[in-house]
Amino acid sequence: MKRIVFSVGFSSLLVFSACTQKLSAIVKDAERQTAVLLSEIPNAREGKANLVSPRTVEEGKLKLVASGDWTSGFFPGELWYFYELTGDQKWKQKADSFTRLIEKEKLNGVTHDMGFKIYCSFGNGYRLTKDPYYKEVIIQSAKTLITRYRPVTGAIRSWDHHKEKWQFPVIIDNMMNLELLFEATKLTGDSSFYKIAVAHANTTMKNHFRDNYSTWHVVEYDTITGKVRSKVTHQGYSDESEWARGQAWALYGYTMCYRETKDPVYLRQAENVADYLLKHPAMPADAVPYWDFKDPGIPSVSRDASAAAVIASGLYELSGYSMQKKTYKAFADKIMNSLTKSYRSAIGENKGFILIHSTGNKPANSEIDVPINYADYYYLEALLRKR
Ligand code: GLY
Repeated sequence: MKRIVFSVGFSSLLVFSACTQKLSAIVKDAERQTAVLLSEIPNAREGKANLVSPRTVEEGKLKLVASGDWTSGFFPGELWYFYELTGDQKWKQKADSFTRLIEKEKLNGVTHDMGFKIYCSFGNGYRLTKDPYYKEVIIQSAKTLITRYRPVTGAIRSWDHHKEKWQFPVIIDNMMNLELLFEATKLTGDSSFYKIAVAHANTTMKNHFRDNYSTWHVVEYDTITGKVRSKVTHQGYSDESEWARGQAWALYGYTMCYRETKDPVYLRQAENVADYLLKHPAMPADAVPYWDFKDPGIPSVSRDASAAAVIASGLYELSGYSMQKKTYKAFADKIMNSLTKSYRSAIGENKGFILIHSTGNKPANSEIDVPINYADYYYLEALLRKR
């Protein structure tokens, strides 16, 4: 979620200024659309006070989720990004009130999704306001998350479900939860959070990646020996397929790990994943991936705008560290142009979500070709990084 500042030479300033104007129009549209979403929430919540955050559109209705859902932090995070993009106090007030609704997750130790939930919401809130209340929630959440770490595996356990099948499953998505741990060390001076994040990143780098730098979704470890038992792709087309969002989490995750550690091994890993993605023969011309790069039904299968937004945001950051700066930034720009031109909802439609055409969990026949909150979150983050 870090905002990246690029220095620009005088010759770039005119171009930058033209882009900035366009950007401000895009942000204005996104604000108008999000006002629609906000106006839809009271109706969708009617009688169900535990539902706190908009997630998607299901059978034509706005679907809200409880704070325990892995996506509950994205909408508060979007509101923080609007505050950052516009400076408008109205967004700060909304962001704060939606953020507070998920505070109890700081004690929820039955899932690894703490970073998604707490860092996108409280993390952005703290970054932008330095409010000590947010800081305390971040620290407690990190303490809860590391209870899922086991030295024998060198990893944080991701899921508790499917216990009959998997002993200690770790998913590539879990890389995204490490940012919370790096922050907790900065806030407390306690290096245990940092060390666990590094151990998890190293274990994942060793076991999750194929020779071409694509990643399996799930690596399952033996709880006693810590050895790998199986490698599968639960949310993709098949175990050996390349689920698009998983590749996006890998790119973003190792870029973030390089930012936090300055270990060049992570930079190389992020570049290798980026190069695999940029040259992928199944990457469509508009650079918005199909939901799985190995679905044999391509090109007649759904896209995943959320994967595209995560890749764009990750590439903007990576372009600030890599010698391949121009290539990565150009590809991120290409994705953002496509999303902005062809994947945005008309204002007033789709219950107020910004992007359309994401795929949540195709094997479960769930959320196929829909708007989804994390697509909007990473799109706004990428807009900020572009700016
Ligand atoms: N973290 C779950 C997903 O990407 O669908």
